Amino acid sequence: MILLTGATGKTGSETAKALAARGVKARALVRNAGKAAALQAAGMELVVGDVTDADCVRKALAGVSKLLLLLPNSEQQLAQEKQVVDLARAAGVRHIVKMSSMEAVPGASAPIRQIHWESEQYLRASGLAWTMIRPDFFMDNFLGSAGTIREKKLFALPLGESRSAMIDARDIGAVTAEALAGQGHEGKSHDITGPELLSCHQVAECLSGVLGTTITYVAADPQAYLGILRRVLPNEWHANAVSALFREIAEGVVPSRVTDTVRKVTGRGPFTLAQFLREHIAAFR
Ligand SMILES: NC(=O)c1ccc[n+]([C@@H]2O[C@H](COP(=O)([O-])OP(=O)(O)OC[C@H]3O[C@@H](n4cnc5c(N)ncnc54)[C@H](OP(=O)(O)O)[C@@H]3O)[C@@H](O)[C@H]2O)c1
Repeated sequence: MILLTGATGKTGSETAKALAARGVKARALVRNAGKAAALQAAGMELVVGDVTDADCVRKALAGVSKLLLLLPNSEQQLAQEKQVVDLARAAGVRHIVKMSSMEAVPGASAPIRQIHWESEQYLRASGLAWTMIRPDFFMDNFLGSAGTIREKKLFALPLGESRSAMIDARDIGAVTAEALAGQGHEGKSHDITGPELLSCHQVAECLSGVLGTTITYVAADPQAYLGILRRVLPNEWHANAVSALFREIAEGVVPSRVTDTVRKVTGRGPFTLAQFLREHIAAFR
C-alpha cells in the first residue's frame, strides 16, 4: 500500500490523480474529508487526521510499504518530517518519497532551503530507501497574483530580473507518482523543472499573449513585499522565511537550471508556461 501525505494540496493532489490514472491503489492521510471527496471518488482510501498526531499517523501507516512525505513550509516542518520518518520506519515502511526543493542545498541560509536540506539528510541517514523530489519554482505560485493580474493588469513580486525553470504541478505529480509506483527510483534525487528558464518579464509577456491584453511585471521592493507577506501568510516566521527565499532567488544565490528529468522519468516533456496559463485562464481573466 502507498500512503500519501499532503494529498489535498497542489502537488499531492496531482500525484493522487496520476496514481489513479495508473490504476494504483493508495491511501491518503487528510485533515479534511470534505476537501478529499474527489480523491475518495477516484478510489483513494482516506484516513482523517493530522500528521502531527502520532497515533493517527500510525493508523494511516498500517500495511504501508511506500510513503509520500509532503508537508507545507512552517517553523515545525523539519520536526514534523523527522517524526513521520521515525514512525514510518517503526511501522515497517520500506521506501519514502520526500517532496523537497531544488533550492535545498548544503550550507543554505534561507530557512526553507535549510529545512528541506536537513530533512533530506535525516531521511538519507534513516536506513530506509528514499527518493527526493526536488522541483524548481512552481508555476502555480503565479495563481497568488491572479487578483492583481485580473484587476490591475500587473503583478508585483520581489524577484528582480532572476530567471527560474518554473514547473507545472502536473509534472511534479507525474514524477512523484512514478517514483512511488514505478521501479528504479530508490536512492535518486529528481531535480525537476519546466522546459525553459524564464524571468518574470517573460512570464508577463506570456500572460499578455494568452490573455490578449498587456500584463506588466513590477519588480517589487523586498521590504515593501514583506509587508504584504505578513498580511497573507499565517505568521511572522512564514513571512520572513518566504521573504528570505525570494531575496536569495532575486540575487541568484542558487542559480536555476533546466533539467530533462521530467522527460526521463515520465517519457514526455514538461508543460510549458503557456500551457499552464491556458489551463488556469479563468483565474487570470
Ligand atoms: N511553491 C514552490 O515554488 C515550491 C518549490 C519547490 C518545493 N516546494 C515545496 O512544496 C511543499 C508544498 O507542496 P504543495 O505546494 O503541493 O503543498 P500545499 O498545496 O501547500 O498543500 C499542503 C498539504 O499538506 C496538508 N497538510 C498541512 N498540514 C497538515 C497537517 N498538520 N496534517 C495533515 N496534512 C497537512 C494540507 O492539507 P489541507 O488541505 O488540510 O490544508 C495539504 O494537503 C513545501 O514543502 C515546499 O517547500 C514548493
